[in-house]
Amino acid sequence: MRFGSYHRAVAVTRETVLEALRQVIDPELGSDIVDLGMVPRVEVDGGKVTVSVALTVASCPLRSQIEQDVLRRVGALPGVDTVAVEITTMDQEQRSKLMERARLRAREQAEPTAISPTTRALAISSGKGGVGKSSIAANLAIATARAGHRVGLLDADIWGFSIPRLLGALDVRLEAGDDRRIRPAEVHGIQVVSTGLIVEDETTALMWRGLMLSKALEQFLRDVAWDPELDYLFIDMPPGTGDIQMALARLLPQAETVVVTTPQRAAQRVAARVADMARRSHMPILGVIENMAGFTCEHGTHYDLFGRGGGELLADDLGVPLLARVPIDAAVVEGGDEGRPVVVTDPDGPAARAIVAARDRILAVLPPMGMDSCSARIAVLGEQLEALDAARG
Ligand SMILES: Nc1ncnc2c1ncn2[C@@H]1O[C@H](COP(=O)(O)OP(=O)(O)OP(=O)(O)O)[C@@H](O)[C@H]1O
Ligand SMILES: [Mg+2]
Repeated sequence: MRFGSYHRAVAVTRETVLEALRQVIDPELGSDIVDLGMVPRVEVDGGKVTVSVALTVASCPLRSQIEQDVLRRVGALPGVDTVAVEITTMDQEQRSKLMERARLRAREQAEPTAISPTTRALAISSGKGGVGKSSIAANLAIATARAGHRVGLLDADIWGFSIPRLLGALDVRLEAGDDRRIRPAEVHGIQVVSTGLIVEDETTALMWRGLMLSKALEQFLRDVAWDPELDYLFIDMPPGTGDIQMALARLLPQAETVVVTTPQRAAQRVAARVADMARRSHMPILGVIENMAGFTCEHGTHYDLFGRGGGELLADDLGVPLLARVPIDAAVVEGGDEGRPVVVTDPDGPAARAIVAARDRILAVLPPMGMDSCSARIAVLGEQLEALDAARG
């Protein structure tokens, strides 16, 4: 996979590759593949990178998922032209070492956030404001829930929040459970957390206002009782590329980003900013969604109100797919104002259809990390562990 052409001059090193591989999580073991000793070999030859990944069992159902994650994470590094992944199988000794490490990790590393490592996290970001991130995030989240998945929506636009209005949840307030942890609200079949669902009385408002933005995000990820079985968490990002992006990458290593842009051809500058953010935070870019892509009036005439081709240009620059082109659709504005998202109120309209298409492409690239499918592998590991313990007496 090629990244932006402006990165050509950067030399890739073994260390940067290993750092990127630390973002590849084994969902069952809850740690990254480098830490787990699953990367016996990394070779860098100019822009050519070869990574060996040792799996616990050859028939591992996670094989292609881990392989794809490695390809995307390493492929997104500046200076990388090609990535080859060699899959090998661990021997008995490597396996028991891995299990020891996994157990140790699980013990000492008490859940860094309340988001399960098996939850796919997608940050909806953009290089500039007002391009439709919040509208896309809300509708994508609902569309994903409607495809039968458990979905959360985190409004990371701490003070510019718009999710409560978009979802018609202006009167909803988050409540704490018996354990005093805040429960996400259930709206339109998804679990939602936003500052806008908290601040009302002065004390909480002051408490939150006193926090740094990244601290607020940390609290949302750590102190909220998120459903541990969430398949997807969509994160509506504030405009631009700042602290929140960096904090998110640090707190949720599995997070990937979807970039929303308008069709304006001034894509280059935005691309540079977004690519720079991705590089600094090691957050891979899953794809681009072009929003406000033209308008077709009732007589069928098409108008490119905001230019043309910007989404494609940006996607090409970043070396990622264009996930969808969402046209200008009055139903998006009305739905947003009335709190009735377009995928609910006008599912056959042009915007909703495009958003559903984007959802389908996302689900195809990032299928849910089901634990069930790996029960066979867990059973095998459990047996080996018991055998090891028995042998040790
Ligand atoms: N496809 C569309 N067709 C018509 N209007 C749209 C479309 N997408 C978004 N809008 C409108 O554009 C405005 C900005 O959208 P939105 O708030 O989702 O953008 P944003 O990127 O989240 O903004 P911010 O950077 O301020 O967070 C809203 O009024 C919204 O209704
Ligand atoms: Mg927004």
